[in-house]
Amino acid sequence: MPWITKKSGSATIETRDEPYLTSAMISKLRETYIPRYAQPKGALFPALHMIQHEYGWVPHQAMKEIAEVLEIAPSEVLDTVTFYEEYWEHSKGENLISVCRSIACEFCNATDCTEAIKSKLGIDVGQTTEDGKFTLVELECIGSCGTAPAAIFNEDLHENLTPQRTVELIEQIQNGTYQEGGTGAVKEDL
Ligand code: FES
Repeated sequence: MPWITKKSGSATIETRDEPYLTSAMISKLRETYIPRYAQPKGALFPALHMIQHEYGWVPHQAMKEIAEVLEIAPSEVLDTVTFYEEYWEHSKGENLISVCRSIACEFCNATDCTEAIKSKLGIDVGQTTEDGKFTLVELECIGSCGTAPAAIFNEDLHENLTPQRTVELIEQIQNGTYQEGGTGAVKEDL
């Protein structure tokens, strides 16, 4: 298969007047993280974590700001963001639902859960609802094969899921009754 190249060199990025990397973040990078490494670029992960934790994703402008502080090329920051699927290059919904699609979960009907979520929210995998409330993605094994199918709702692991349970969790988030911490719900309705 031939390589397909993008004209990244001439691409324009969306910018805003206010920097994403605040002065407090820059101080934290310079005083706490950078001194831990032989070179400033060692602090790239902490810098990306800071931005993603604050904004939910890593805008291109923020990548340039990080590059400047760490004295590296913006392309190095972009390479890192696009290599690790944990980093978001685009904004995502207020709530992130990540369903495991690996083999144990697939055998235990994870696809039915995904279909239930898609139908409940009216979106496909990789999409965000129009109101910006939910984004649905699929992940490879999330380490809960023994209690498959499993999914992560924001920071919470939910195990032994059923389509009905996934819909209930979404409704709980929508009506504000969702209890953080994950449930490890039992397959009582199977
Ligand atoms: S295969 Fe889904 S948690 Fe391992």
